[in-house]
Amino acid sequence: MIDGKQYITKIIKEQTQLEEELILDCIEKPKDSKMGDYAFTCFKLAKIYHKAPAIIAQEIYEKLNLQQDEWFEKVEVVGGYINFFINKVAFIKNVLQEQDFGMIKPYKIGEGKNIVIDYSSPNIAKPFHIGHLRTTVIGGALYHIYEYLGYHVIGINHLGDYGTQFGKLIEGYTRWKDEYDIEKNPIDELTKIYVRINQLCEEDESVLQACRDNFKKLEEGDAYCTEIWKKFKELSLKEFQRVYDLLGSKFDSWNGESFYSDKMEEVIQKLEEKGKLITSEGAKIVDVGKDMAPCIIQKSNGSTTYATRDLAAILYRARTYDYDKAIYVTSYEQILHFKQVFTVAQYLDLDKKYVDGLEHVPYGMVRLASGKMSTREGTIVKLEDLLLEAIQRARKIIEEKEPQLENKEETAKIIGLGAVVFNDLANNRMKDEVFDWDEVLNFQGETGPYIQYMYVRTKSVLEKAKEPDLDASQIDYTVLGDADAMQIAKLLEQFKHILIQVTEKEEPSILSRYLIDLSQAYSTFYNNHKVLVEEENVRKARLYITKVVGEVLKKGAELLGMQMPERM
Ligand code: ARG
Repeated sequence: MIDGKQYITKIIKEQTQLEEELILDCIEKPKDSKMGDYAFTCFKLAKIYHKAPAIIAQEIYEKLNLQQDEWFEKVEVVGGYINFFINKVAFIKNVLQEQDFGMIKPYKIGEGKNIVIDYSSPNIAKPFHIGHLRTTVIGGALYHIYEYLGYHVIGINHLGDYGTQFGKLIEGYTRWKDEYDIEKNPIDELTKIYVRINQLCEEDESVLQACRDNFKKLEEGDAYCTEIWKKFKELSLKEFQRVYDLLGSKFDSWNGESFYSDKMEEVIQKLEEKGKLITSEGAKIVDVGKDMAPCIIQKSNGSTTYATRDLAAILYRARTYDYDKAIYVTSYEQILHFKQVFTVAQYLDLDKKYVDGLEHVPYGMVRLASGKMSTREGTIVKLEDLLLEAIQRARKIIEEKEPQLENKEETAKIIGLGAVVFNDLANNRMKDEVFDWDEVLNFQGETGPYIQYMYVRTKSVLEKAKEPDLDASQIDYTVLGDADAMQIAKLLEQFKHILIQVTEKEEPSILSRYLIDLSQAYSTFYNNHKVLVEEENVRKARLYITKVVGEVLKKGAELLGMQMPERM
């Protein structure tokens, strides 16, 4: 596959002996296609040649001698720019022929590299709420994309299954277990117990002490506390799993915070050896600089903290997975926590590679536009309810628009869930999100259903055509030399670069945006060009583009964590 930028770099290098990096730096993609597909800007070269950019542009242009080059339709000098217009037919042919989209094999870019992604990670015995949607969906998308690029990915659900709150839950459960049916509705009932015991703790200091003792006992392996804690965990996981099944989320490890209960001693020892542990008001802390609060490693009663468990997890993950990058996907509320933890990680005697590989990937908050979903003001919206509502709403839309559709149940599920997932990935992850049903499920907007709809259109065009042998090598590319086809080809050429950009910025919205652009480009192409025309060569060429667009849309959606319906 010829890459336009690379090609221009090569020919300029041959004639000028300029450094490759410098040349690459001078090549732009003009926003306005009237300025060409690529522009070589000569402003940076003025210092080297001691000449005006316009003169440099003219001189280089003359040296290039491009009359014979079939890769360009036209090359012209405008001021300090050399504008390159790529031959559309040659370009489209190149993209469609050399990139075998139908059988996109995972790329090899990441071969030999290990990526740990810590995501979703809800807290046991607490509601799996709409705020956890983002980590689950963003983490899941990153997982698929890294894997597709050839990395070895380890997805970890670092469950919040440890800490003082379990001491409280054990206390509440022991007191009132007969009043609550936690088998039937575990998380709701445990939440009620948690609220009630917290109130009691506030009124009665001795209850609070009992709760603290319970957690201490749990840490020491007490049989009774461990048994109840295990029960809470199993029941919670069963409930979480229903959400994961809906979203198709998979994890390679479920090692949560409790997994590190016997691995924190080493952290404390190492910090002690380095002379980094300071005792302050009975607690052990590490000073992490003037602009951050100190990192608490051990509380005054001897209990460990969330941060200590994260430090133990870093040691474990470095040794177990030999990671090149360890990514943590959480809301931006935890920025300080990870800053502290990553700073302290420098003192654990780890290879520098592992410290440098730590990366927090924060995201913004979700708010519901209409309070309708929430049962009471201020109550948390459970993720499962939200997903089920999405399916139900999609079902209603299908019933109105397409009542005779087969597989309505399955299609509603794909559309409803796809809409929620896409919505969550549509914008820059740091942006706070307002969740508005009308926007999420708008088939005309920049939404999941819009992409699904465009995919279904490619499918139905191909089905109507009944053209079994569409092969890239048999297409007459000369009939595709128009601006609309060119726009599609340019986007197709970008697919791989888009995925790489996603991993450089840990930003799946780059792919979401791309899929919208590709859908819109196909929509324009489809509106301006009849696909099922008489002339066989024209029909086949347009069908082939249709097929490739459909395949890339489907692959892209899959990478984001969405499915495609076959009809809608
Ligand atoms: N359980 C935490 C929460 O719900 C998120 C855990 C993120 N991962 C980590 N290694 N700290 O807020």
